[in-house]
Amino acid sequence: MTKTYAMTGGASGIGAALKESLQARGDRVIVVDLKNADIIADLSTVEGRQHAIAGITELATDGLDGFVACAGLPPVAEPLSLITQVNYFAAVATIEGVVDLVAKKNGAIVSVCSNSAPLPGLNEEHIELLLAGKEAEACALIETLDGHNAYAGSKNALTKWTRRNAAEMMRKGVRLNGIAPGMTRTPLTDKVFADETLGDATREFSKCISYGDLATPDMIADAMLFLLDPAARYVSGSILFVDGGQDALLRPDQF
Ligand SMILES: NC(=O)c1ccc[n+]([C@@H]2O[C@H](COP(=O)([O-])OP(=O)(O)OC[C@H]3O[C@@H](n4cnc5c(N)ncnc54)[C@H](O)[C@@H]3O)[C@@H](O)[C@H]2O)c1
Repeated sequence: MTKTYAMTGGASGIGAALKESLQARGDRVIVVDLKNADIIADLSTVEGRQHAIAGITELATDGLDGFVACAGLPPVAEPLSLITQVNYFAAVATIEGVVDLVAKKNGAIVSVCSNSAPLPGLNEEHIELLLAGKEAEACALIETLDGHNAYAGSKNALTKWTRRNAAEMMRKGVRLNGIAPGMTRTPLTDKVFADETLGDATREFSKCISYGDLATPDMIADAMLFLLDPAARYVSGSILFVDGGQDALLRPDQF
């Protein structure tokens, strides 16, 4: 039977790879993005998120087998508050907005986190504001911080939000898991490599990937397919690192 999935950020990179894999096996995919999507929505705004949720609800009347919150911006995006809005608040709002549709089919939700989430140097007050849902305050604070805090901080909070909400989702019959990709060859990473400040540091950091190279988007999509699949029916509240071994190298004793 044809399955129906929805995702944000399916027009490019990792999201596009997942969309192609799902479509290749005959599944229906509803994509929300700024362009090249079934639902055009700017997820940085509350109105855009509402438009996205209303659009998905209209297109997926029988419910969703899965939802992936994949839209994201790199640490070099400007203003920094855009990263806060898209990477954290849009992910949480869209997941909350479609959970009942996913519950209809006892489906699965994947939040796209990052292996940068546990990196040191993050401002705790910013992360607390995100988790408290204080968007205006978090956006104001991030403008006084930096791209690392905006990006890794948003992913740190999204990881914690995923863990904190998995039990409640499970009670609704929905599995909520996070995926933590490492550096992956996508337009997002190209933008970081091209940045005067972060480019060289990121290239240097990428040299410690145990696998020996960056991921390709399909490597991340394959792991997402597992989290969405009934094969993962007992997996809930997990954060799956798909990063060529980088997190294990940096934090061998933390799990
Ligand atoms: N590429 C990596 O190395 C890497 C590593 C860890 C995590 N991630 C995460 O994976 C996800 C996908 O990243 P990617 O590398 O494929 O990036 P990408 O830039 O190729 O794709 C991101 C997508 O998000 C969409 N998007 C951005 N802002 C939006 C907005 N305001 N409204 C609607 N859509 C918007 C873009 O249009 C784009 O299609 C992101 O959440 C990213 O943070 C990526």
